[in-house]
Amino acid sequence: MDHFNLSNGSIHAESVSLEAIAQAVGTPVYVYSQATLERHVRVFREAVSGAGKGEPLVAFAVKANPNGAVLRTMARAGMGADVVSGGELMRALAAGILPENIIFSGVGKTREEMALGLSHGIGQFNLESEPEAEMLSAVASAMGVEAKVAYRVNPDVDAGTHAKISTGKSENKFGIPIDTAIDAYARAAALPGLKLQGVAVHIGSQLTDLAPLETAFGKVGALVSALRAEGHDITLADLGGGLGVPYDPALPLPPSPTDYGAMVRRATAGWDVRLAFEPGRLIVANAGVLLSRVIRVKEGVSQPWVILDAAMNDLLRPSLYDAWHDIRAVKPKGEKAAANVVGPVCESGDTFATARHMDVVAADDLVVFMTAGAYGATMAGTYNSRALAPEVMVSGDQWAVVRPRQPLSALIDAERVPDWLAD
Ligand code: LLP
Repeated sequence: MDHFNLSNGSIHAESVSLEAIAQAVGTPVYVYSQATLERHVRVFREAVSGAGKGEPLVAFAVKANPNGAVLRTMARAGMGADVVSGGELMRALAAGILPENIIFSGVGKTREEMALGLSHGIGQFNLESEPEAEMLSAVASAMGVEAKVAYRVNPDVDAGTHAKISTGKSENKFGIPIDTAIDAYARAAALPGLKLQGVAVHIGSQLTDLAPLETAFGKVGALVSALRAEGHDITLADLGGGLGVPYDPALPLPPSPTDYGAMVRRATAGWDVRLAFEPGRLIVANAGVLLSRVIRVKEGVSQPWVILDAAMNDLLRPSLYDAWHDIRAVKPKGEKAAANVVGPVCESGDTFATARHMDVVAADDLVVFMTAGAYGATMAGTYNSRALAPEVMVSGDQWAVVRPRQPLSALIDAERVPDWLAD
């Protein structure tokens, strides 16, 4: 459920009209609803509350939306963070997320990133290979500190999601093969500067079926027992993120957080460890929209081309994953027809929808891409020298620009012309 609704014939974010935001800030612009973010945090927390030992650690996957106002909302709700770079770590800390609630994931952590995490005393490093364990051991030892670690295991389970966002198959780059984990833990236990405390798994994103997750968790449970039998003190099992959200209202709803929580309870019964979760999309996807204006409508062979001022550089998901986002008129006229919706970038891939049955729109009308809060603004780039779109946070009847539009001059000012080309 979200807080973007039609009110007096035009779509509002909570009590604020999207038209008013477009007028004040221009388009394209991302708009987030704080009430929706807070609701999703609450719903997820309630769904997993009491599973495992003590209260679970719910660590928001910062990659889904690293905007400072979003992270501040997470911090105020007492959420942890799952980070995958020094930059995400700094953002999480700057927002006030407690270091002990931060988990550092990713296959390519550098020495500098490890040292940064260690200097802040973060809660856990999820290691993805033995060379990484050796590097972290060396960095921690040199600093005279102990790194709390888990191995991320690759359970070789097909998550049934898009190939580009599937991470739990043996051919994916993530984690160590689960059947080699016992030996890897034994070797890591002998390394100085590491405190082996956990096991981690994450098999993919936008999962719409709980069965692969349950299979993966079953394998992790068996591993936890086997590691205990070997004498390791495993106290935390990080079950990753991945729960899908509804994008297309015509498709069956994905499993609810409550269904997920029930499955987690079943799968983890008797593990006797604290659980951690890393939801990203579930928290933020439906809490954000991308607001855009129709530049013009051009005649097409079968359908008209609706050309927007948003493009693939602003919202990459349709181009990259053939992702489907609902596109609505901000002031629907009650008429629907098929259209191709595209951006101005000079690539045929800059297509948001083909032969989409949608609200009829004309030049200067506003449209919104729904469910754009996750992996939207954060994946934006400046291709075709298009400046990054601004972001706005709404709370009730108040709203604020939480990242201003990048001025075009910033694109030029960021670069340097070498002396020999200067004259
Ligand atoms: N934990 C780890 C280790 C991850 O790799 C991810 C996502 C998450 C948690 C959060 O997963 P979520 O709950 O959001 O599904 N850009 C793609 C999605 C990439 C997901 C990468 N990893 C998209 O737009 O669909």
